[in-house]
Amino acid sequence: MHSYAIWNNKGGTGKSTITFHVASRFAEQHPERKVLVIDLCPQANSSMLLLGGGILGEANVLDLCSNVTPKSVVGYISNAILTRSVPKLSDFLVKISDLNQNMPNNIYLLSGDGNLELMAPAINDEASRTPFPGLADPWDWVHKIFHRLVSSLDGDEWTVFFDTNPSFAIYTELAVCAASRLLVPVNADDSSRVAVKALFALLYGTNPPHQFFGNYTFAAKAASRGFSLPKVHLAIGNRFTQFKGAAAAFAAFSEATADQLYSEFVADPARFSVKPNAATSRQEFLSLYVGELRDFNTAGVVAAHHGTPLSRMRQDYYPVHSDPDVKVNSNQLRVGLAAVDSVVDMLDP
Ligand SMILES: Nc1ncnc2c1ncn2[C@@H]1O[C@H](COP(=O)(O)OP(=O)(O)OP(=O)(O)O)[C@@H](O)[C@H]1O
Ligand SMILES: [Mg+2]
Repeated sequence: MHSYAIWNNKGGTGKSTITFHVASRFAEQHPERKVLVIDLCPQANSSMLLLGGGILGEANVLDLCSNVTPKSVVGYISNAILTRSVPKLSDFLVKISDLNQNMPNNIYLLSGDGNLELMAPAINDEASRTPFPGLADPWDWVHKIFHRLVSSLDGDEWTVFFDTNPSFAIYTELAVCAASRLLVPVNADDSSRVAVKALFALLYGTNPPHQFFGNYTFAAKAASRGFSLPKVHLAIGNRFTQFKGAAAAFAAFSEATADQLYSEFVADPARFSVKPNAATSRQEFLSLYVGELRDFNTAGVVAAHHGTPLSRMRQDYYPVHSDPDVKVNSNQLRVGLAAVDSVVDMLDP
């Protein structure tokens, strides 16, 4: 069974939008499987898109988070820590089509929750408790809250996607400790190249380690406990089209990010997922590990705003906030869906 964390240590690269499109399309393409989205970002953006988008999606998420026992990641984490067990998933899970009929009926959500931000210091406190003889190592136990959840699911049935926050906060740490693979959205700019470097440094540490903080990092703690970390499965070039006006600069930025990824691969291929044929050149590496979300623009954004997978949109005029008539044409839909499919096709169930 595979579980995918959509993460990049840079904000706004398209993590939540990609989670929405890829998880819903994956569910459509694999009707025999159950898809679970776990939203570990306090902004809860992918939860809002999945639960209807716009004002409706926001209201649905607020409702779930306002329950006495929140039907959200906050409810789940609280229950795990209070009971020291694997919570009963059905107490916290939402079948998305119950709230948003535009979605396939085999996709489920453990909703994001703004209170995750408020709860983060308490989760950190739990993780950094002094170990007590005979009891589980607190850092290990807390960091595996979602790892235990994923392990408890039947791998023949479920595929899991985590949406994450760009910061390497405790909730992001919980997501990367649970996922087997990483999907890394990147834009064609310098910060994306730097963020790719930071991603590896945060997961595995720097060489040499920082002379003071080196012992206290997530990387050092995870390595000393023998944690297995997710493998980079795919870097997804997103919103590349907005840079294409300046074609030369666009190409140069994309090349620089690709170079950064390839140099990480050459340094340690074990940090990348295993593919049927191993990459033996830069060109092969790029074809196996880099996907591009082309021309995803109007159709993709309107679809997300309406909480509707691209496959279920029709050529029409759609209201988007103050503009009642945003035109989506069939060509945009076809190209947008092909772009999403090009990513979904690179994922295994
Ligand atoms: N392919 C795309 N084409 C056009 N707009 C896009 C595309 N992908 C994302 N966007 C837009 O870019 C903005 C940021 O996207 P999104 O919220 O998915 O990023 P994120 O990485 O989840 O951000 P954060 O780091 O804040 O969680 C949104 O307004 C979204 O609609
Ligand atoms: Mg997001």
